[in-house]
Amino acid sequence: MIIKALTCRNFRNIEELEAGSFDEMNVICGENAQGKTNMLESIWLFTGMKSFRGSRDSELVKKDREKAVNGLEFVSAGTEESARLEISERRTAFLNGKKLKAASELAEHFSAVVFSPGDLSLIKDGPAVRRRFLDTAIGQLYPAYIGILKKYTRAVIQRNSVIKNYRYDRTLEIMLDSFEDEIAAEAVKIVKFRARYISLLKEILPEIYGGISSGKESLETFYMPSAADDVKERLKAARTADMLTGSTSAGPHRDDIDFKINGMSARSYGSQGQKRSVALALKLAEAEIIKNISGEYPVFLLDDVMSELDPDRQSYILNRVKGIQTFITCCDPSNTASLEKGRIIYIENGRIR
Ligand SMILES: Nc1ncnc2c1ncn2[C@@H]1O[C@H](COP(=O)(O)OP(=O)(O)OP(=O)(O)O)[C@@H](O)[C@H]1O
Ligand SMILES: [Mg+2]
Repeated sequence: MIIKALTCRNFRNIEELEAGSFDEMNVICGENAQGKTNMLESIWLFTGMKSFRGSRDSELVKKDREKAVNGLEFVSAGTEESARLEISERRTAFLNGKKLKAASELAEHFSAVVFSPGDLSLIKDGPAVRRRFLDTAIGQLYPAYIGILKKYTRAVIQRNSVIKNYRYDRTLEIMLDSFEDEIAAEAVKIVKFRARYISLLKEILPEIYGGISSGKESLETFYMPSAADDVKERLKAARTADMLTGSTSAGPHRDDIDFKINGMSARSYGSQGQKRSVALALKLAEAEIIKNISGEYPVFLLDDVMSELDPDRQSYILNRVKGIQTFITCCDPSNTASLEKGRIIYIENGRIR
């Protein structure tokens, strides 16, 4: 995936922006609040996903304007494509001049992986964030997974509501049995998908992390499924306990992934820079997996990744990530001193100068 040109109108603080002649590595430089992240976000939205900042669509439109109109010229699998995205209360997307049924259809045409400061939570926060990462990554590759996950989640919600009343009404047992059957059936599929994805991560991550840390540190990845083949038995055994909490204590909604740097848990022992490096390596691995499966690298968007990384790690990102078109924001131009080849774009008050 290669971006040839980007245009934005009335998007965030950007009134009008036209940018092109991008390189493989593109550094977006500027002071705080000038529009660097906004520019990355405008590219990201062509994946058809929600903003990586969690903003509502109405917040994307420049204040006091009616709608934002962004355009992206890109090459995918050797074919030139042109996408347009109009954002107001809702989104309307066009590909090569033709209106798409839904903006989310853009996902079939353009792909990107984003790393933003919030992604540090992948390492430092609780397991929910890691499950979300897995689910999004797998769902992008295998849309059927999203349906399985929905069915599973619905069955868990149903079991939770029934188990609350099970203490008073034992006739609910038949319903519990059937929900637990459904949970177990979907759980097996989910665990299989996740185990497969994590085995891909295990193959790729050590080399990437070794690169980021100049070979000084090793990274290991462990899948920690809450239950594997025994979900049904586990749920049955947990009924009495679950009755009191009104929740379901086993199953993929309790899974986790553990990362170990030099044998020690990154979450508990990792330094700030190490955590950032693991999160970044994870995103690079995601891009690699997309390439191995779809045949093409996604575009890589890196927001504010340079701070907290030492010069060797910065140089790895700027110079050693090959074959992936990358857009990276950065406040301090001295962080890009080691840039060997690429383009520096300066942005000021929503304008490229
Ligand atoms: N809908 C909007 N309308 C007008 N301005 C907006 C809108 N949304 C955000 N902005 C403004 O855009 C400006 C630039 O935001 P952006 O997040 O891109 O900055 P940045 O260059 O990444 O800065 P930093 O280095 O601090 O991360 C901010 O001042 C913000 O208030
Ligand atoms: Mg920013």
